[in-house]
Amino acid sequence: MYATRPISRLAALGLKPRDVASLQTPRCAVAHRQFASAQPVSQDDDKTDDKSKSSSKLPSNTQARPDQDQYMKLESLPVVFSDISRAKVAIREGIQRTECKKSFFLSEALGMNIFLKPEFRQFTGSFKERGARNAILKLMREQGASLKGVIAASAGNHALALAYHGKELGVPVTVVMPVVAPMAKVDKCRKFGARIMIEGAHIGEAKTFAEKLCEKENLTYVNGYDDPPIIAGAGTIGCEIMEDVPEVDAVVVPVGGGGLIAGISCAIKTLKPECKVFGVEPAFCASYTAALKAGKPVPAPVQNTLADGLAVPVVGPHAFEVARHYVDECVQVDEREISLAVLRLIENEKMVVEGGGAAGLAALLPGGPLDRPEMKGKNVVVPLCGGNIDTTVLGRVIERGLAADDRLVNFYAEVSDRPGGIANLTQLLAEMNASIKDIYHERAWLHTSVDRVQVKCVVELNGKEHADRLQKALIDKGYPIIWKPTSR
Ligand SMILES: Cc1ncc(COP(=O)(O)O)c(C=O)c1O
Repeated sequence: MYATRPISRLAALGLKPRDVASLQTPRCAVAHRQFASAQPVSQDDDKTDDKSKSSSKLPSNTQARPDQDQYMKLESLPVVFSDISRAKVAIREGIQRTECKKSFFLSEALGMNIFLKPEFRQFTGSFKERGARNAILKLMREQGASLKGVIAASAGNHALALAYHGKELGVPVTVVMPVVAPMAKVDKCRKFGARIMIEGAHIGEAKTFAEKLCEKENLTYVNGYDDPPIIAGAGTIGCEIMEDVPEVDAVVVPVGGGGLIAGISCAIKTLKPECKVFGVEPAFCASYTAALKAGKPVPAPVQNTLADGLAVPVVGPHAFEVARHYVDECVQVDEREISLAVLRLIENEKMVVEGGGAAGLAALLPGGPLDRPEMKGKNVVVPLCGGNIDTTVLGRVIERGLAADDRLVNFYAEVSDRPGGIANLTQLLAEMNASIKDIYHERAWLHTSVDRVQVKCVVELNGKEHADRLQKALIDKGYPIIWKPTSR
């Protein structure tokens, strides 16, 4: 097992356990103080409170730990840095070496040096390939000809990654997908030669089916976020970040089942303990925060989120043990912030990234939980982990992003039902440079007067300042309005 072998492996490399422990012991508390003292902390109480709302004020490396004993000793962690180093060598032939590039526009807009690592450029569209290839290679080494095949329950990126690398490496792959899995992903997995089984109403039922099949057919189950070789594969991203941006101050990582952040944080904190590692999860599925609170992985409430790749209700136990050892803090983003991040990447970088893949950037956007004074001027790396977004969903995300940006605004205005009533309103909209996208009458629902009518408008604007001016102009002209009725 990964958990018990790191010391002997390092002995083989000529290192003593003590050397390794000192290499890996996180010095995050010291690092945090250094980081924070480099920039003045906000004196604005309201703003500070606002940020803390979506940040887990829970034990992590830089936050007080109520009970040190509940944390695993470094040498018993399921994944250590030597596992990641081995994975890096093992997978380098079959994985894209993505390059961290500084984003001019985002750096300007956020007041930080933002480096983007485009993991969505992997062949199947996500970082999951790193872990999948590492896991299959390890099983091939260990089981040789007796490896009958691998199996996973997944509706998304892990399924694609396993199917593709299984085909590349000549290992049969079975993927169990729930009936709700997008057809595009089902077809793609089939094209990679995987055996596809559609079973279960949701991923939990698909997993139960896969586990039964596993025993029956003597297959090996590969968990997409919790198997140690999967975590080690994801950790290779951390090594590449250190190679490309040695002056990195912070890395901001999306969290689903926790494997990605476990691997990246282990690599980063080993190579540069003073670098901060932040996790970001959707507020609609805050399972890492729930696990921190409980001291162990527990089910978190889940609502449908644009970051579907991160909607894992319970984080993996191995991933959690590693991540909580290294990660500084985990924050949450809402759906509005996620859609804005996807929009910013399309508009500024011409990059199509799925909601989960853009969660790191979402946390850094103005008003987001990591838009903090101490982050300004820092070198911040943001892995963009996946780009598998359905075209129809992408359309909706862009519309929501435009709405979040006040570039698409809806409102109701009450106008006279006599000739010219609507013309006067549209005249004002034209004078205000508001481009009408939709407009329609709603006669039946207004009860003020029979000669009044409610008009619903959707207009295209230039942003918040333009929207504020239009709202004021409508009020000044005496229109009773309901401004942005469906926004939060
Ligand atoms: C695009 C994307 N980003 C991030 C993650 C998070 O990875 P993990 O589940 O290992 O936390 C996932 C998980 O599937 C993902 O698909």
